[in-house]
Amino acid sequence: MNNLLVIGTQWGDEGKGKVVDFLAPAFDIIARYQGGHNAGHTVYLEGKKIVLHLIPSGILHPDKIGVIGNGLVIDPGSFFKELDDLKSIGVEVNEKRLAVSRSAHVIMPYHPRLEKISEAQRGKKMIGTTCRGIGPCYEDKAARWGIRIGDLLEPEILREKIEENLAVKNKIFEAFGQPTLEAGPIYEQYRKFGEGLAPFVKDVSAFLYQQVKAGKSILFEGAQGVLLDLDHGTYPYVTSSSSTAGGVATGLGLSPKQITGILGITKAYATRVGSGPFPTELKDETGALLARKGDEFGATTGRPRRCGWFDAVAARYSCRINGVDLLALTKPDVLEGLSEIKACYAYEYKGSKLKDFLADPHVLDKVQPVYRTFPVWEDSIQHLSNEDKLPAGFNDYVKWLEDELEIPVGIISTGVAREDIIYIKEKCSRLLGAQAEKLFGKH
Ligand code: GDP
Ligand code: IMO
Ligand code: MG
Repeated sequence: MNNLLVIGTQWGDEGKGKVVDFLAPAFDIIARYQGGHNAGHTVYLEGKKIVLHLIPSGILHPDKIGVIGNGLVIDPGSFFKELDDLKSIGVEVNEKRLAVSRSAHVIMPYHPRLEKISEAQRGKKMIGTTCRGIGPCYEDKAARWGIRIGDLLEPEILREKIEENLAVKNKIFEAFGQPTLEAGPIYEQYRKFGEGLAPFVKDVSAFLYQQVKAGKSILFEGAQGVLLDLDHGTYPYVTSSSSTAGGVATGLGLSPKQITGILGITKAYATRVGSGPFPTELKDETGALLARKGDEFGATTGRPRRCGWFDAVAARYSCRINGVDLLALTKPDVLEGLSEIKACYAYEYKGSKLKDFLADPHVLDKVQPVYRTFPVWEDSIQHLSNEDKLPAGFNDYVKWLEDELEIPVGIISTGVAREDIIYIKEKCSRLLGAQAEKLFGKH
């Protein structure tokens, strides 16, 4: 069976949720391997907008199993709210349909508070995080103070760990003149969370191993994007997890050999939420137009996303370090209505032309993007689902992109709905084999 990784090649919000929802019929299991409820993955179902944060986007298909791996950080309150929200729209998620790793880390009430202190301390250099406690929870994981999902099921261990943590965290709160926290109420709340979570808790690594052995297939759903990866992104303006392909193996306890293909999701322009370098950012009316037409507001925090032209230097880098096999191009319809389209293919830096991306903010802040200009294609591609109807001008733009990145485009998204999608049969089949048949003829 083929197990596909869906990964964002930019700064997140490329349309991973929509693409995962579209691809889910070709797989048995959809697994998240990193991040937390900092992610916001949007899917439109029968005209209704659904934003998933922790639960894999494939869950909207009633015959699919969702998996939350050990690489995630979980805010139990947010987890249960998401289950309730899904229930309210008729999506029933029980333990048969969702597995949560006992080794995933738990976001505790002190984590968002510590994050606010940390962001305030940075002043002008603040990261602009989602303030969900993601970073401090991963800090505790690395520092070996973390509380894991399995600990929520062991009252004595839970109590002890909360007390140990508060002994240190409360000193920090005191130092910053903030109220301290008491162990008792946190313990009571999280013990109850543990009871609610218990049916979902699994040894995810063993579960996936057995599923693969039984001939089941997995769709890995990345969160954030390559340029937000802790190691390979624009550090320190990154998230705190490994969003790159390498994160799949560590974040699920599965051999990297199980990833049989990698699909890179690429928006036809670029966006970024929060601070950090963004060479092709448009701070003018064109940027504002992209934001309006693309409805570029954070799916998690509602913050306006910064917008700019497509950056092939950055995308090439993302494809290289992940070994992307095929590209899914999203939101090209948003470019219609502009007077012309630009795409960056090199940077000018200290008098020379750079074609390789350097993820250092001090370099990226000083580069000048070199652009190629394209005319806007003649007929609209909005809502198209047939490759044959794509206008020649659009095909030229896609051909340029394929040549620049040296990777074929196999999926083109033409709107927000499930049906607004074009797949190039031959390219999808090369990646997914017979499983691709399950996608064909869906609309
Ligand atoms: P994710 O985090 O990668 O899943 O992406 P988000 O859901 O945060 O942001 C992508 C946004 O673009 C969502 O509002 C989607 O509904 C929307 N979207 C996805 N594909 C397309 C497309 O092809 N055209 C348009 N106009 N919108 C799209
Ligand atoms: P999806 O999965 C876009 C950004 C934040 C901030 C930085 C660090 O929807 O693509 P964090 O709270 O993770 O410590 O914030 O990362 N960020 C995202 N930006 N899409 C996301 O997820 C993001 N998740 C985190 O805005 O700049
Ligand atoms: Mg998002």
